[in-house]
Amino acid sequence: MVNRWLAGDTGDFDWRPFIRHCLSLEARGTRPVGDNDLKFREAAIRRVVTRVTTCDIYASPPVTTTRQFDVVMSHYCLDAVTNNKDEWLANILNLQQLIAPGGLFLFSSLLDADHSDFGNTRYPNVRLFPDDVKQALLDTGFDPASITVSTVPADHEAREYRGVIFGAARLAG
Ligand SMILES: C[S@@+](CC[C@H](N)C(=O)[O-])C[C@H]1O[C@@H](n2cnc3c(N)ncnc32)[C@H](O)[C@@H]1O
Repeated sequence: MVNRWLAGDTGDFDWRPFIRHCLSLEARGTRPVGDNDLKFREAAIRRVVTRVTTCDIYASPPVTTTRQFDVVMSHYCLDAVTNNKDEWLANILNLQQLIAPGGLFLFSSLLDADHSDFGNTRYPNVRLFPDDVKQALLDTGFDPASITVSTVPADHEAREYRGVIFGAARLAG
């Protein structure tokens, strides 16, 4: 699906509202975001994404590579493969092998959820609160001064989660 989008086939999923939203956040209200801005950014993404590969977060390292990266992101995946907090912590350590010393880790997780529904698939979810996330980052060697954890409430009460947790931390250099 991602490869098809990179090749110019947009039939699977329309990313444009999300890209437009990112552009308007970047503009911080200083100017309107037009169709040309959107097209320019879509082309830039297609230019810089050089490889799409598979990941198994239970593997060490989770992606077949000998490289480490300055920025590693994981959104609603680390928390969405297990109910078990020890496994979650071990998987953070697996992922950490991909981050270069001093590199940035950016992630999102569900807040206070034991499962998530994604399309027709139900995923287990480790039940997390901001303090669990902060402690895990401290325990796994991220620079304490770099750790930021914030939450946003769920958009309505019927959700299987109470909100989302956003985190950022730098690996100690
Ligand atoms: C809740 S979905 C989140 C998807 C997407 N990141 C998003 O934010 O919309 C959880 C994702 O974890 C992936 N996943 C399941 N088992 C995994 C594993 N062992 N290693 C890495 N990812 C896995 C699933 O394929 C699924 O895409």
